[in-house]
Amino acid sequence: MTYAHITGWGKALPEKILTNDDISKLVDTNDEWIRSRTGIRERRIAADEESSATLAVDASLRALEVANLNAFDLDLVIVASSSPEHIFPATASIVQDGIGAINAGAFDILAACTGFVFAVNMAAQAIKSGSMQSVLVVGAETLSRFVDWTDRNTCILFGDGAGAFVLQASEEPGGVFSGVMHSDGSGADLLSIPAGGSKEPVSEITLAEGNHYIQMEGKGVFKFATRVMASATKEALEKSGLEAEDLSLVIPHQANTRIIEAAARGLKLPMDKFMVNLDKYGNTSTASVPIATVEAVESGRLNRGDKIAFVAFGGGLSWGALTAEWTGPYPIERKVPQKRYLFLAKVRSVLLRALRVVEGMLWGHYGRDRKL
Ligand code: ACO
Repeated sequence: MTYAHITGWGKALPEKILTNDDISKLVDTNDEWIRSRTGIRERRIAADEESSATLAVDASLRALEVANLNAFDLDLVIVASSSPEHIFPATASIVQDGIGAINAGAFDILAACTGFVFAVNMAAQAIKSGSMQSVLVVGAETLSRFVDWTDRNTCILFGDGAGAFVLQASEEPGGVFSGVMHSDGSGADLLSIPAGGSKEPVSEITLAEGNHYIQMEGKGVFKFATRVMASATKEALEKSGLEAEDLSLVIPHQANTRIIEAAARGLKLPMDKFMVNLDKYGNTSTASVPIATVEAVESGRLNRGDKIAFVAFGGGLSWGALTAEWTGPYPIERKVPQKRYLFLAKVRSVLLRALRVVEGMLWGHYGRDRKL
């Protein structure tokens, strides 16, 4: 039997910090309101030269470093993002090139903040079925670019960042046990970026109406979230034959402390069983679960053999949970040091681009009159 283990993890966060006091200079709000209603103190904001893909590449390289793996060995790159680089190409394709995953397929998953949990579930299924050996899953966001900085209902909530897992196949029992995935499209209007897609392409009207920004019916999302966080975790536990008391740690989507407290009550677990770091980063959507996981490892709260649950909710509406046993990196000998590998991959990428230009010129010169 093949198991899917999480063997690498990494995070990337922009340096710029935006505090609640900073936001109170933009809209009519204050630190006390934001902290008491959400738990958020500050969030990170991407610099101009950063994007969802650059943050994803940084987090991915760190995850590969932990897994002691070259990107050469990856079979698949999945990026979950609510703020992708483009409608297409997939952000995953840019990440695939950026890390030199030359043997990997690459695609994006869109399930708002639940995207990372869904993507890890799909990666684990691909590995358990025997069709893949090593998969990189990334959650990456620059949601600050889709926030209306005059809307106090939403601009206090979101932050930028990325997190990544490497999943690998092994005969050793452990890794991802079970996953549940749910959607309810009847609630799609509760949380959306209405314009910029095919239904409402960006136009002067959509810009004037601010429809290219995040729109949210906060109370509706809050009620939905408090309901599904505990139920999804219970379902995933049941599927894997575990009880809530077996869990060493729950790593929830970091949206609002009050939502996490409701999940704790629903699962009858104390809050110290929940990893919470949203005070520092706000809601980083798909990136929040992997960033929280990395910080759980760094702070010694997540150790080999621990039984854990990941749970998330988001626009769609979507929600899902996973249970897993934390294993940590395999004792693998990396074939090429990462810096050298990355340099070679970059050279290859530049040469491929140059070749495409030359090919285009030759085609233009010799192929013009060719009958197809
Ligand atoms: N500062 C001060 N006052 C505010 C602010 C603010 N930033 N925002 C709203 N208020 C006011 C409102 O206008 C309202 O005033 P009123 O009573 O005079 O009308 C009052 O505060 C209460 O507003 P509510 O919306 O009822 O506040 P609530 O306690 O519900 O908290 C919040 C709002 C924090 C948005 C909460 O509803 C929430 O967290 N919802 C979930 C949001 C979420 O998690 N979204 C992300 C989902 S993940 C994804 O897919 C991206």
